[in-house]
This record gives sequence, structure tokens and C-alpha cells, in this order.
Amino acid sequence: MKTIFSGIQPSGTITLGNYIGALKQFTELQDDYNCYFCIVDQHAITVPQDRLKLRQNIRNLAALYIAVGIDPKKATLFIQSEVPAHAQAGWMLQCVAYIGELERMTQFKDKSAGKEAVSAGLLTYPPLMAADILLYGADLVPVGEDQKQHLELTRDLAERFNRKYNDIFTIPEVRIPKAGARVMSLQDPTKKMSKSDPNSKAFISLLDDPKQIEKKIKSAVTDSDGIVKYDKEEKPGISNLMSIYSVLGGLSIEDIEKRYEGRGYGDFKAELAEVVVRHLEPIQKRYYELVESEELDHILDEGAAKANQVAGKMVKKMENAMGLGRKRK
Ligand code: TYM
Repeated sequence: MKTIFSGIQPSGTITLGNYIGALKQFTELQDDYNCYFCIVDQHAITVPQDRLKLRQNIRNLAALYIAVGIDPKKATLFIQSEVPAHAQAGWMLQCVAYIGELERMTQFKDKSAGKEAVSAGLLTYPPLMAADILLYGADLVPVGEDQKQHLELTRDLAERFNRKYNDIFTIPEVRIPKAGARVMSLQDPTKKMSKSDPNSKAFISLLDDPKQIEKKIKSAVTDSDGIVKYDKEEKPGISNLMSIYSVLGGLSIEDIEKRYEGRGYGDFKAELAEVVVRHLEPIQKRYYELVESEELDHILDEGAAKANQVAGKMVKKMENAMGLGRKRK
């Protein structure tokens, strides 16, 4: 069985973008792959976090992973900071990465733009991400489109390490969903939907209630011609909403165009809101049952134990390849 690794930052509410770009893919892949899914809390502290909120967000994200359908019997779910091998391997890979290539990452440029003080961790974020993936020998990494560049760097670092030290890493492939690889902001459809958007009308949280969802979709920015037609360039707003409809409602884009022929955006938006609410209802129900449960702690304890075992072995291999520590018989 091939191996999959992916991670999500517990840095705020989890959005429909995270769901469509990542979580939904995970649930579809867990039957056919040996999966590791991670709550990457060490990545989250590359920007300032409130400690109590971070703690809560970590737990919330763990509950959401299970609520969307990740089965802990099939996949290993764990918290990054509970597996020290990630920080250890992250350091070793920082020593393989060049500052120039890290400075070229668009996420680093976006997140550091205009800031007076930028943490060194924000720059060295990608080698930690590479460590996450390479520690488990992942063949495939399912992510949204925004992570593609980080995946390319991961491959470069793995190849460089293999060449320079020892051939120990699998070179991972990226897997980007065909539909919904980049869910856009509801307020500015030229920008991606982001959990850190200061305007909460720009994103739908997986935990929004039906009224909030209805309101946000109603106020989503579209255009003035009123025709439900997919055209990413000329009609990015309605096209984004149609993609969401297609993925969550299980209809093709053509079917949606046919269904709303001669009907306006009002009808379309009202029915899209219903589709989203119906899709999220069972997820929210399961989430609230789980989030404060002991069952969740049990799942995370087991996940950390399994991940520590696998990742610990790879760290030893890396140290050995680089000549760290003492020779052991
Ligand atoms: P993060 O936490 O920003 O996002 C988690 C996942 O959600 C996807 N995503 C989207 N997909 C479609 N449309 C959107 N608007 C949208 N917004 C987010 C992201 O592409 C991602 O798949 N660096 C990663 C976390 C990470 C990781 C890893 C991922 C750390 N280590 C190892 C994979 C493997 C990040 O910040 O994702």
C-alpha cells in the first residue's frame, strides 16, 4: 500500500476551502492508502498565536478530521508537536535548504509583506513541512493548489539529501483535486478563501450555522449579468460558487448551468445555501459529540504513538546519513 501524508494548520476556523481542497480528498483516499494526517501546530506558531486559542483550535481541528469522516482505524491522526521527530528532521532539512530558495516561496512573501518583525520560523517553514512528509516515506501528498510550490521544494530537498548523504527519502508526488483546488473568497473572488481573512463574510467555516451560511452566500460578490454560467476569467464570483455547488451537491458544472438556465442568481444562491447546509449538518453533529470527548484523546494518543514509531526510525536514518551522534552497533 502506498503512503499518504497531509497536514492542516490549527490557526483559526477551518473553511470550506480547507474542506474541499484537502479534508474531502483525505476521506476519499483513506481506503486505498496508508494515511497519516497531522495537525501541524508547530507551523501555526510561525505567526503570533494566543496560547489558549491555539490549544482549543488544535482540539477543534482534531475533532473536525474525525467528523468529516477520517476513520482512525484506517488513518493515523496526530498532533505534530507530540512527535519530536518533526522538529529534529526539520532542523536537519533546514541545513540542506538554501536561504535564497526559502525567500522565493510565495507564501513567505505574502505573509511577510509589510511586516516589521517576521519570525525566522516563517522563513524556515517549508523545511519543516518537508520533514513532515519525508519522515513517513509519503508517496503522495493531497493538498490544495496553494501548497504546490512547497511540495516542489520538498521534492528538491529530498533529492538533494539523497544525493549528498544517502538515498533514504521517497520523492513524493503532489495530488491536487480536479475540482475545488482553489476555492475563492466570497467577497473577492480573485483571492483564495482563507481562514485568516479579517472579513468573516469572505469564508464559510465548517461550523457556521445555517443562518450564517445563507447570509454569506447571499452577500457573495458576483456580477451584474445574472446568468449562471461558468467562466472563471470573466465571471469569477459565480464560477466559484458553481464549483462549490458542484463538489458538495454532486452535480457537474454543465448540469448546474442547465438547471439554472433562465433563473437568476437569487434562486441559485438560495439553493446553494441549502446544499452547503445539508452537507455540513452531519459533520457538525459529529463534531459536537466528539470535541470534548475522551474518545478524541484516545485517538490522538494512539496516533502519536504510531507516528513516533515510524518517524523516530527515519530520524535515526537521517542522523546516521549526516554523521550526527555516535556510531552504534
Ligand atoms: P493550510 O492549513 O493553510 O491549509 C490546509 C489545506 O487546505 C488547503 N486549502 C485550500 N484548498 C482549496 N481552496 C482554498 N481556498 C484553500 N485554502 C486552504 C491547503 O492547500 C491545504 O492542503 N503548509 C500547509 C500545512 C502543512 C502540510 C504539511 C500540508 C504543513 N505540513 C505537509 C501537506 C503536507 C498549510 O499551511 O495548509
